[in-house]
Order: sequence, then C-alpha cells, then structure tokens
Amino acid sequence: QKEPINVCVTGAAGQIAYSLLPLICRGNVFGEDQPVNLHLLDITPMMGTVNGVIMELSDCAFELVNKIVATDDPMVAFKDCDAAMLVGAMPRREGMLRKDLLEKNAGIFKVQGAALDKVAKKTVRVVVVGNPANTNALVTSEFAPSIPKSQFTALTHLDQSRARAMVAERAGVNTSQVKNVIIWGNHSSTQYPDVEHAVIVSADGARTSVKKAVGDEAWLHGDFIKAVQTRGAAVIKARKLSSAMSAAKAVADHMHVWWHGTKEGEFTSMGVMTDGSKYGINAGIVFSMPVTIKDGVISVVEGLEISDFSRDKMRATEHELQQERETALKIVQ
Ligand code: NAI
Repeated sequence: QKEPINVCVTGAAGQIAYSLLPLICRGNVFGEDQPVNLHLLDITPMMGTVNGVIMELSDCAFELVNKIVATDDPMVAFKDCDAAMLVGAMPRREGMLRKDLLEKNAGIFKVQGAALDKVAKKTVRVVVVGNPANTNALVTSEFAPSIPKSQFTALTHLDQSRARAMVAERAGVNTSQVKNVIIWGNHSSTQYPDVEHAVIVSADGARTSVKKAVGDEAWLHGDFIKAVQTRGAAVIKARKLSSAMSAAKAVADHMHVWWHGTKEGEFTSMGVMTDGSKYGINAGIVFSMPVTIKDGVISVVEGLEISDFSRDKMRATEHELQQERETALKIVQ
C-alpha cells in the first residue's frame, strides 16, 4: 500500500469543502489507491462545524482516509503538506467593492503563504479557490519565497467546465467531447473563454473545430462569452447560494490533472504565475493560461495563434489583474 499523502483543505466548514471532501476521500483526486491524511483548517468560531464534518467523514467509512487533523492554526494545517486547496476566504457581502474584498483577503493569504513557506513541503501543490483567486494566489506565493512560484495556481477550471458545457449543449454533443477550451486571465467577469482552438472529438477520434460545429460566430463572440463570465451570478440568483458542487468538482479536477497529467493532444486552463514570455502578458501576475502537465510539471502551451479579437480580450483581463496586484501588494506591505 502507498504511503499516505498530506492534503490540506482550508475553509473546511464551508459549502465547497462539504462537496470537495468526499471527492478526495473516494480517491477521485489523488487516485483510488492513494491514502490521505486530511488537514482541515478553518477559523476558530467554525471549529464546532468542522467537528461535525469530521463526524460525517468518519460515518462515511472511507477506506482511503488514514488520519484527520482539524485546526485553526495554519502552521499545523500546512505541516508537511503535499497538496493544499485554499478554499477558505472572507466572502463578498452585499455592497462590498472588489477592493474591500481584496483588502480582507490579502491579509488572510499573506498569513497562509508565510505558514506554507515555513512548514509545507517545498514540492507542495497549491490551488487557490477563495476569491479573488488569482490575486490571492499571487499574495500567497509572495509570502512563500522558499517554494517555487510554479507550485502556486488559481482555479479557473470551473469557468472552463462551464464553457465546455455551454458549447456542448449548443453543438448537441456530450460535454466530455469538447476539448481545449481556454480560459485566459482572471477568474472574474473580465475572463476570456476562448474557443478558437477548441475541438469536438467524436467517438471514432475525428476532430471538428468548435467554430465549425457550432456554426454561429456571433454567439461564440457574444452571448457565449457573457454567459460564461456571469454564470456564477446566475447560479446565485437561482439557488440563493453560490456555486459549491460545481466548484468542488472543478477543484477536484484541477488537482487530479496536476497529479495525473494531461492527455496527449489535450490541454487545460489554470491560473499560473506569468514570466513575461508568453502571449505578451506581463510578468508577475497569476493569469489563466492553457497548460499541459507531465510528472507534476506545468508547462504553458506555446505557439497558439492569437486573433485580434482574442488579443483585445486578453489585454482587458491582464489590465484588471495588474490593478489587483498593485492594490493587494500595497495592502500587505
Ligand atoms: P463558505 O462561506 O461556505 O465557506 C468559506 C469558509 O472559509 C468558511 O467556513 C469560513 O469560516 C472559512 N474561512 C474564512 N476565513 C478563513 C481563514 N482565514 N482560514 C481558513 N478558513 C477561513 O464559502 P464557499 O462557498 O465554500 O466558497 C469559498 C470561496 O471560494 C469563496 O471565496 C468563493 O468566492 C470562492 N469560489 C471560487 C470559485 C473559483 O472558481 N475560483 C468558484 C466558487 C467559489
């Protein structure tokens, strides 16, 4: 039997964690033969709720769960961590501006970055989910200088899944047949869901471009983009609660593909630290890009042709991320 790995989930008392923990414990993330030690972090007032979650996890009788640690101390939660899913964050309340949200969260992610730096494994794979996810990931990595920047990512997989599902519905195929949709930029309403390189793969392996299969460029350049950008708000309106099941599935898929690698001929999107050398995007922001993954190493897909339409959309989301970076770094100085 394999040695257990240490997996930290923050915001363990929250909605997303409630849907995410069973996926981890069933083996849907790290593999069905991979035991896990769960490290659950939340804030002090939520520890009672976390204990309730632990009671349920215990009652699920998951075979892969070796040990569960519940704590309100990041130094305990991140100790020797192999994977960290940073879900916990201060939620956006009514009337709160994005700047206020940044302010509240930058402080949280500064503390968590510093704790990761001190106690996590240097190979820890971090995905930041708590919003504003990209800039929170940036802050976390700033305060964890001993861990390579390549180990910090932000979740845009939910946006990618939403985009794939919408294309599939429009083209009358199964979502799993839609490959290589790209999410560029920020997990916000400026994100750019790009289908210019996306394909629909049929049962016999034949590939048709999404543009051709959908056959409606006006929709792809208009309502489709808007629908992906505002899907989170649409779910809140309908459910009176934010997306949690789909977000949890996306976190699980994000970490699964990081652990197990991308398939031949396929790529996936995630927020990664830019170095200024890819697609003309400035260095020093966490920008969602198409990547391939092999043996845990994330590589940005290079050489994709970028149309003028795409370029404009990428600039807008880059601009927003640069502004967020400035605001956040001022706060945590
Ligand atoms: P929730 O409010 O149900 O749970 C958040 C949990 O985080 C709470 O239990 C809270 O006590 C905890 N928390 C707050 N500060 C903390 C800290 N310093 N350390 C540890 N835990 C802390 O929220 P939900 O629905 O689970 O969402 C979590 C976050 O994920 C939100 O910021 C939300 O905006 C974001 N999100 C991101 C998505 C993405 O695609 N990147 C998609 C959906 C949600």
